[in-house]
Amino acid sequence: MTDRASPAAAYEGGPDNFAFSEATRKLAEKQIAKYPEGKQASAVKGLLDLAMRQMEDETGSRWLPRAAMDHVAGILGMAPIRVYEVASFYTMFKTRPVGRHHLQVCTTTPCWLRGSDAVLAACRRAAGNVPDGTVSEDGEFSVEEVECLGACVNAPVLWVGDYFYEDLDGQATERILEALKRGEHPAPGSAKGRQTSAPEGGPTTLKEVPPHQPYRPDPPAPEPAAPQADAGE
Ligand code: FES
Repeated sequence: MTDRASPAAAYEGGPDNFAFSEATRKLAEKQIAKYPEGKQASAVKGLLDLAMRQMEDETGSRWLPRAAMDHVAGILGMAPIRVYEVASFYTMFKTRPVGRHHLQVCTTTPCWLRGSDAVLAACRRAAGNVPDGTVSEDGEFSVEEVECLGACVNAPVLWVGDYFYEDLDGQATERILEALKRGEHPAPGSAKGRQTSAPEGGPTTLKEVPPHQPYRPDPPAPEPAAPQADAGE
């Protein structure tokens, strides 16, 4: 387990050395090529994300050890502290180890009003009630309360890996966590079968696809009138 309460723990642990694999390096080159010459530092977030995903492939934990941040800094010609600043600012970057499944539970007001307490409790139970931000003894789960995930219509929301699980309650959350623990990939989205973000029970408007309307450009604007000669001249 990692002690999240200790600021010094932020960059401790993890491998002493890190380098992109051949596959990650090719993806990194594509990211860097998106930016003009001299602006390669703009690719820092993309490369940090790639580094986290490589860590997940290699260790089962999607996080950024200091060696990975240093590697990204070296590739982009940035001072390492500039990379640490980015990694510590954006909450999607984890600078401490997380569980194989990092459970990010939204507890902002809409999710809270819709029952995020039960979702959070189920996640904490699955993690063996270790303190939030630390990893369960079996390495499966870590839990973090997060702010609005931008899916309030389908509150409450749980974010795991690359997926949102929505419209949850305690039991639905437990079913998802048990499936994750078994190594399954439970379907993301609404636990109530809601169609995307439509009202519960199905859409109430725009229920039919409107007939195709061919595009009709606006008629051209009339030419400005030529100046008239004064009849008295
Ligand atoms: S408040 Fe939870 S997704 Fe917006």
